[in-house]
Amino acid sequence: MNAITSVAAADLSHLRADFPILQQTVRGKPFVFLDSAASSQKPDAVIEAMAHTMRTQYANVHRGLHWMSERTTDAYEGVRDTVAALLNAPSRDEIVFTGSSTGAINLVANSYGALLRPGQAVLVSEMEHHANIVPWQMLRARQGIELRVAPVTDAGELDMTALEALLADGKVGLVAVTHMSNVLGTVTPAARIAALAHAAGAKLLLDGSQAVVHRPVDVQALGADFYVFTGHKLYGPTGIGVLWARRELLEAMPPFMGGGDMIASVSFEHSSWAEVPHKFEAGTPPIVEAIGLGAAIDYVRAIGMERIQAHEAMMTEHALVRLAQVPGVSVIGHAQERGGVISFSMEGAHAHDVATLLDQNGIAVRAGTHCAEPLMRRFGITSTARASFGVYTTLGEIDVLAETLERIGRFLV
Ligand code: ALA
Repeated sequence: MNAITSVAAADLSHLRADFPILQQTVRGKPFVFLDSAASSQKPDAVIEAMAHTMRTQYANVHRGLHWMSERTTDAYEGVRDTVAALLNAPSRDEIVFTGSSTGAINLVANSYGALLRPGQAVLVSEMEHHANIVPWQMLRARQGIELRVAPVTDAGELDMTALEALLADGKVGLVAVTHMSNVLGTVTPAARIAALAHAAGAKLLLDGSQAVVHRPVDVQALGADFYVFTGHKLYGPTGIGVLWARRELLEAMPPFMGGGDMIASVSFEHSSWAEVPHKFEAGTPPIVEAIGLGAAIDYVRAIGMERIQAHEAMMTEHALVRLAQVPGVSVIGHAQERGGVISFSMEGAHAHDVATLLDQNGIAVRAGTHCAEPLMRRFGITSTARASFGVYTTLGEIDVLAETLERIGRFLV
């Protein structure tokens, strides 16, 4: 393939037509949505799947003997196969539905965490989202475990030498790190981390909330033990997240939440648990949301995760070139391996002011700490503005971002 053909093959911006919300204009200008890392927009296929479910095949799952419940149960349970295929998980029974990535990490912290003993440690990195920090601090308070932190280099990459040193005494029971930073876009060397963790007797949890949206994920090839992600960043609805874990771990872990559907039998003296994954799904699950997630996964898999990765690589390269041309703008993090998330600051301007001025021009970016305060401290900053890309992002939108930043710079200086 020559360069021009490969660019054409990677360009997915025609997919904008699938996203009704993007057809709007803002104050007469096209809506430039560069905040997909916070939550992505939803294609018609997802909206229709959820509406169709509520219109034609909705009842509670696993509970009714009637045909409508069976039909809904089949649709809900079918999504486990869809998720297993997305992650190349060995078994659909290893897919646990939660409410979010946060819910999935809290499940692991409470359940697998209960198997860790005082003196053991959990190792996170300096570029974690609060959702992959706070549950481990709460575990430390409950269980007396130690929390270790692997540093990040000036380039915004995981310091692998330091990570290896932190594993050396064999006390780390779990390494819990992001697969792709929601602030820097850095993609971590997950397979290498898995090998180091396993050699030191630790398990590996990857927070895939960002990575799963932007690239193919194969949990077996990565060698992960736990993988979590959320539906709403993957073009699906809010209220649905996924925990994948190796079956033997799920079987060894005690349940996190108790209630209906997670039991085999209940008496006042004793209750016993359902088989995995149901042991971890107490109460009525997010049925419509799971079906929406299934439609979202079908949508991205029909495009092809490799093509999505290529499209976003093209957007990211273009954005890095264009932002470098804007006086006063500096990008934070220059990892070799990165996805479509770029944090930047503008000299003499607070990130919130930059985001507000961009918003006045119809451009949506996120500004703030991005739920990663320790990472802000690492780089000696209090906030950044962040542009993030999705399948619907166009090169033209990135040009509009850069041109508008140039004008904002002239206005502010
Ligand atoms: N975790 C989401 C973000 O990075 C909300 O913006």
